[in-house]
Amino acid sequence: MSNMAIAKEGGFSALLVDTHAHIDTDRFDEDRDEMLARAKEAGLAAIINMGDSLESSARSVAMAGKYDMVYTGVGIHPEEARPMTQGDDDLLAAWAQEAKVVAIGEIGLDYYWVKDEEQRQLQREIFIRQLDLARQLHLPVCVHDREAHGDTLAILKKEARDVRGVMHCYSGSLEMARELMKLDWFIGVDGPLTFKNAAKLPEIVQRLPLERILVETDCPYMAPVPVRGKRNEPAYVYHVAAKLAELRQVSFEQVARQTTSNAQELYGKL
Ligand code: NI
Repeated sequence: MSNMAIAKEGGFSALLVDTHAHIDTDRFDEDRDEMLARAKEAGLAAIINMGDSLESSARSVAMAGKYDMVYTGVGIHPEEARPMTQGDDDLLAAWAQEAKVVAIGEIGLDYYWVKDEEQRQLQREIFIRQLDLARQLHLPVCVHDREAHGDTLAILKKEARDVRGVMHCYSGSLEMARELMKLDWFIGVDGPLTFKNAAKLPEIVQRLPLERILVETDCPYMAPVPVRGKRNEPAYVYHVAAKLAELRQVSFEQVARQTTSNAQELYGKL
């Protein structure tokens, strides 16, 4: 636990940011305040909650108003895809004016859960529409890509000019990660980095610049080892950062300082 002590004693430079959470969900209704206290105790400076629908984005904006350490992205997740209206654009644009709304997200493509071709086409349409919106609003984006690597990268190369972002919960190849680096993008890593069956992810995070990696939980899902299988929460981002330090053979403090600085670089309003 000595690393945990460093996180607490190291001042701002050693503080972590959970750059991708879903703490507006009802999984936290019974202990939200206690969960946030545990996050502070674990050395977190900030949590970025990602909206996955307009309803969840509204909850998330309200939470950012209530809790100092909570910031938010607003957007429509591919699993929640439905035709967007001008009214939806206007709502997202209005939220984007708020001080603690730092991104358009979580947006992207999910071909794992969604097999229907018409629904996938709708995902692509609203993904592109929200990338356009992010460009107009001068906000970065947080992108979800599950088993849709080819289409996601093709859309980013064509449609995301002048938009920066992160490929969250990274599950692509080293080659794809290098393409993202060329676009000056980031990758986000979370619980799966700590899993025994992490496949190629450990090698990928060893070979990319630390300056392009964000740490996140994606809670309440994907709790890292040693709490795998439990409900995940922002405090556990500590385990992801510790694994990253181990893999790169650098100190925990260096990982905390660099990934927090990365989060501030991408999300300028943090
Ligand atoms: Ni997510």
